[in-house]
Parts: sequence; structure tokens; C-alpha cells
Amino acid sequence: MSTKDYVYCDYAAGAPCRPQVAAEWARFAAHEFANPGAHHPLAYLARRKLMEVHERAASVLGVDPREIVFTSGGTESDALALRGVMKAAGQGRNELVVSGIEHHAVLLEAQRLEAEGAVVHYAPVSRDGVVDLAALQHMVGPKTALVSVMYANNETGVIQPVAQVAEIAHGAGARYHCDAVQAFGKVELAPREIGCDLMSLAAAKFGGPKGMGLLYNQMNSRLVPVVVGGPQEWGLRAGTEDLPGMAAMAVAMEVAKAERVAAWGPVATIRDSLETKLVAGLGANVRLNGKQAPRLPNVSNISFLHIEGQAMAIELGEQGFCVGLGSACAPGETDPSHVLAAMGLSWEDAIGCIRVSFGPDITQAQSDRLAELCIANYTSLRGLG
Ligand SMILES: Cc1ncc(COP(=O)(O)O)c(C=O)c1O
Repeated sequence: MSTKDYVYCDYAAGAPCRPQVAAEWARFAAHEFANPGAHHPLAYLARRKLMEVHERAASVLGVDPREIVFTSGGTESDALALRGVMKAAGQGRNELVVSGIEHHAVLLEAQRLEAEGAVVHYAPVSRDGVVDLAALQHMVGPKTALVSVMYANNETGVIQPVAQVAEIAHGAGARYHCDAVQAFGKVELAPREIGCDLMSLAAAKFGGPKGMGLLYNQMNSRLVPVVVGGPQEWGLRAGTEDLPGMAAMAVAMEVAKAERVAAWGPVATIRDSLETKLVAGLGANVRLNGKQAPRLPNVSNISFLHIEGQAMAIELGEQGFCVGLGSACAPGETDPSHVLAAMGLSWEDAIGCIRVSFGPDITQAQSDRLAELCIANYTSLRGLG
């Protein structure tokens, strides 16, 4: 059994590493091994390379290299943004506003901050999974230090009105953090245009190495670091730099940006045709969560009523299709997703959910086959056959 035996439809959980990325990683691992913090010629060379990788990542985002802090992924970037801002803010600004559909990396960090004395507000979302801007506006005030609303949701692909969120945050003198882990490489994304002060990315989601991420931190502004020790990453993230990982991530960012339109344009059409076929075959027994909202091109969040999504995913796996179950970051969880609950889905509708997230290599024939299998599996799982 190998990866070739499967149609991989779980890109929201992780994308395959691109060959150029693996090659860059290997080149750096073999040659740029000196510690950039040391004091000899090879260290000076490594330090120059370190600056170059910051420049490359910054140039993709249209920002300054000093605004890039490399991390171990989306979780660490989110933690640094939330904890970093909240701990740096004065006593007069101890409030944090997050949406109820944020990734657990944001929600659980918010809960920890709450336990440490911060006041946290959770903004509701509509039935389609879009943050309620009026409610958000109501929660943001002179005591708000930070607003954190993601760019696109990891379970539904629903895109949030990020520019308006930035305006609301700034209107109250608060900072805005955007978790763009799912969005980067699939939508045109420039932190300065959105107006966000902090933005999280994770390389594994767009063909970069696993365990690499970055936090954009506008004007290198003051954050209290989460990991302390050495002065690396502008004093915001201690520890010897993973130069090969950073270089590989920078290449992945360049390629993802260059190929974005060609790679993802056709995928939305295939995703839409999958949804059309499912509705034609199953009618009211299937529900497409977030379909009425703007979405990422490759994600479909599908509730099969009166069956368990996990049973459907297991069947599909045996038939050669790898699909997700809501969030892949919550292995072993049996409760239905907090995202679908926030969107007002009943327990029954949420438990019947799978997440299909296609890659650029998906074909129409594969998508058609997936639809057929879903329809046949549904009939047998419900004992209707
Ligand atoms: C929206 C979002 N934020 C944060 C994360 C966490 O990223 P990582 O697994 O790189 O720590 C994920 C992972 O799926 C995600 O989808």
C-alpha cells in the first residue's frame, strides 16, 4: 500500500511537500549547518542566509524582513500572537476578542489567558459560518488589546470579512491578529492590504515542510515572547534557528504564490460539481455547511444526515479516498466540532460531517467517483439499500 493507491482529499490537514522545497531543505541541511549566532566565517555566512530567508518570505507577503518571526507552525504562531500581545498590553487593555470558530490553537490559548486574568469575548457566527460583525463591534472597546479572527476556517473553508474586522479592531485602538494558516496560497493575501497587525502561517498547508510556520508582526512591534532564552528572531522566539526549514518554507511560499491561480482556479469547479452530484443523489439527506458564504476553492464540509461522518470516512478510506473529519487537529475527539456547533448545527447534523479538501491534482473523474461512493455508502450505512 502506498500513497499512489489513494486519492488524497485532505489538503486542509496537510499538503505534500513540493520537490523544490525538499531539495532546498536538503541543500541547506548539508551546507548551511553553522549556527548563525556563532562567531566565525561560516557562522557569518549562515547569518547572511538567515537574513536572506527572512527577505524572501517577507517579499512574498509584501512586508519588511524584520516583521517575519519564524516558528514551529500555526499553533506556535497563534500562541505568540495572543500571549505576546496580551502580556505586553497594559492593565488598561486586558480584553481579547476571538471568534467562536477559531482553531483550538487560538481558542485554548484564549482560555489560558482568561484563567490568568484576561477578559475574553467570543464573537458568534452566522448559520453559514461568517463572523457576525455587528456582534464583534459590540464586543470591541477601549479595553480591547487584541482581536483574533481567522482568514478562512479550517473545517468549512469559509472566508471571513478580515478587512472589516481590522477596521473594527483599529477603530478601538486594538491590534488585529489573523490566523491565515488555511488561506495562504489559495487566496491573494497581503497583510498590509487586509490591515492586520499579526498573521499566522503554517508551511505544511502549502507544500512546505511540517513543523515550520511564521508570524508576521507589523513593525516588529512589542510582544512578550513565549519561548525565552537566546536573542533569535528579533528576541521574539529563542532557540537556534532551523535554517533549512526556514529556507524550505520560503521556497514553498514563493511557489505557492506563483502557482496560485493556475493551481486552484479549476479546483473550485470540481468541488462545486461534487456538491451538485451529492445533492442530486441524496437530496435533503445531505447538507453543505458554509456553501452560501465565500469559501476557499477546495473545501467542502458535508453533513450526511442520520449517519456518522466517521463511518463514511472509514468506508471511503477502504475505497481509496482519504477525507477529513472536521478538524484533523483533534484526533480521538468524538464530540462534534465546535465550529459546526457555533454555526447552529444540531448534534445529529454535526456528527454526520466529513470534510473534503481537494488538492490541485484532483481530476473530474476522481471527484465523480467520490460522489458515487458517498451516495452508495450513505444508502448502505442507513440500511436503505
Ligand atoms: C486555521 C489553523 N490554525 C492553526 C493550525 C495549527 O497549525 P500547526 O498544525 O502548523 O501548528 C491549523 C492546523 O490545521 C489550522 O488549520
